[in-house]
Amino acid sequence: MEEQIKVLRQQMEEALAAVSSKDELAAFWQAYLGKNGSIAALMKGLGKVDKEQRPVMGKVINQFKAEAEEKYQAMREKMEAAELEAANRSEQVDITMPATRVSAGALHPLTLVKNQIVDVFAGMGFEIFEGPEIEDDDHNFTRLNVAKNHPARDMQDTFYVAEDIVLRTHTSGAQIRVMDAQQPPIKILAPGRVFRSDSDATHSPMFHQMEGLVVDKNITLCDLQGMLDKFVQAMFGEGIRTRLRPSYFPFTEPSVEVDVSCFECGGKGCGLCKGTGWIEVLGGGIVHHKVLENCGIDPNVYSGFAFGIGIERITMLKYGINNIGLLFENDLRFLKQFQE
Ligand code: DAH
Repeated sequence: MEEQIKVLRQQMEEALAAVSSKDELAAFWQAYLGKNGSIAALMKGLGKVDKEQRPVMGKVINQFKAEAEEKYQAMREKMEAAELEAANRSEQVDITMPATRVSAGALHPLTLVKNQIVDVFAGMGFEIFEGPEIEDDDHNFTRLNVAKNHPARDMQDTFYVAEDIVLRTHTSGAQIRVMDAQQPPIKILAPGRVFRSDSDATHSPMFHQMEGLVVDKNITLCDLQGMLDKFVQAMFGEGIRTRLRPSYFPFTEPSVEVDVSCFECGGKGCGLCKGTGWIEVLGGGIVHHKVLENCGIDPNVYSGFAFGIGIERITMLKYGINNIGLLFENDLRFLKQFQE
């Protein structure tokens, strides 16, 4: 039996040396130390050994067993340590590596300018009203004193959705909606998208406007100019002045085109203002008495002014953008320049 143990010990040591995975180690344990393993088999064989020899052999087998267990345990610890080290190594962070940058989003320049305009007028007590983008002929034209067949309809190339239904060509229809719903005093700002079949370096089929409307007793062009002065100074700088030029819109009488003193050259004349010292920024006027009447407001008691600002135009002037397309292409190289 001693010989048998010697052979077994040799085998056991070789088997353990060949173990290279946890599964193999478990198999090793089954083969030698398990219930049906070789060492258990030796124990069973003790019955056949001489009575005097039995305690001695028992001791030898137990020693062999303890030795096998110790070796198994040492191997297990070695494997676990190696496993831990490999895990640590794979999770190691190289703090000298450059970090991946997460770039923050930013507001679109048109949104920045729109917010800025809203802020200026909100400071003067204006409230925001948003009309629908799909508008009927009545609100977009007729009740703004632009009758069917009125030549002024040709001023804007209209997209028709159905007969008498259009994509609004301006935000002016919001004036009618507000005056229908509310008696003076009225002081609203109506921002939104508008649509015209027109496209070149300064025109886009979809663009944005901001309508302003004030109706109360004794409203005059002076009130309009005073408020617009505040607006252009906030947009283009402290020293900027406005100039009103006679113009024509069907819904205002008198109508004006509003120019600002050139913020590039200070009024001396340059490329931007084409040598005139002035830049046209928006249209406005005194609300036509027919428009007030169309909304049930008595023009003998009340008067009002209105204006329409092109948000793209203001944005392009403010930032020196020469092509309106840049505002709609969403090229990050362009947009990133407006990150605050
Ligand atoms: N609706 C005009 C346009 O789109 C702009 C405008 C001019 C609006 C005069 C007004 C105004 O309210 O009084 O060209």
